[in-house]
Amino acid sequence: MKKILVNEALVERENIKIDIEDRGYQFGDGVYEVIRVYNGRLFTKDEHLNRLYESAEKISLTIPYPQETIAARIEELVAANQLQTGIVYLQITRGAAPRQHAFPSEETAPTFVAYTNEMARNEAAMTKGAKGLLVEDVRWLRCDIKSLNLLGNILAKQKASEAGCIEAILHRGDTVMEGSSSNMFIVKAGQLLTHPATNLILNGITRQVVLKLCQENNIAYTETPFSVQELLNAEEVFLTSTTSEVIPLIQIDGKQIGDGRVGPITKKMQQLFTKRIKAECGLTHV
Ligand code: PDD
Repeated sequence: MKKILVNEALVERENIKIDIEDRGYQFGDGVYEVIRVYNGRLFTKDEHLNRLYESAEKISLTIPYPQETIAARIEELVAANQLQTGIVYLQITRGAAPRQHAFPSEETAPTFVAYTNEMARNEAAMTKGAKGLLVEDVRWLRCDIKSLNLLGNILAKQKASEAGCIEAILHRGDTVMEGSSSNMFIVKAGQLLTHPATNLILNGITRQVVLKLCQENNIAYTETPFSVQELLNAEEVFLTSTTSEVIPLIQIDGKQIGDGRVGPITKKMQQLFTKRIKAECGLTHV
């Protein structure tokens, strides 16, 4: 039986009860993280936990445990569930209290849960590339917070999914922001461009790893907004996320990107990213 982490205890899934007045359930009043597991080890764990605490702080939610405690507990969770390749999902809400919009009383304890799921790497999309669909970004103005409120993202992803596309590429007017659950990169005149980490995008951990790999390997990049036209005319386009790593987009809104094949800079980023996974998680089979 798979274990779930509830507050500080590992318990069996069937024994868990979530209150119907939990504010996560009623309002989406909470924050979350998704951390990749390779070879039974957590990839960029500290970066994800740092962001969880930052997101919580941005919504004035105090996580009642030190970061080291959560780090240790999720390591135990992965071991208990014998997870090799997959994800850990973590979320914390403002707890259960009689329904009212304003924050509940100080004594209301936040609800913290974490669980694991098996998830293979999407090797087919990584090697062959995938399609994207442009969707107007109608989300709020605090996309830097990894909030449980994902309706804008979900509705956009559904449109993409119905069009046979892997991702919705969100744009505000003429400016490309990010994917519905990923960050967006283009190659223009041999240089990588990605939207700067403002309030209008989530500063993805994978995005940050990719930028660090660029610095370490002298690959030119700029954090600058780019337009829908620049996206469609790009030499290469790829998305990044915890679950997807680096996935090339070879067609957007039915238009071929570049020569329609996975480009050299995207391939290089994939190789460097895999090397980083191997170094951190001792991965041997890729
Ligand atoms: N999504 N932008 C948005 C809106 C996201 O939801 C995500 C992650 C990213 C990429 O961030 P990272 O590299 O830290 O995963 C960008 C996660 C994986 C999800 O909701 O499943």
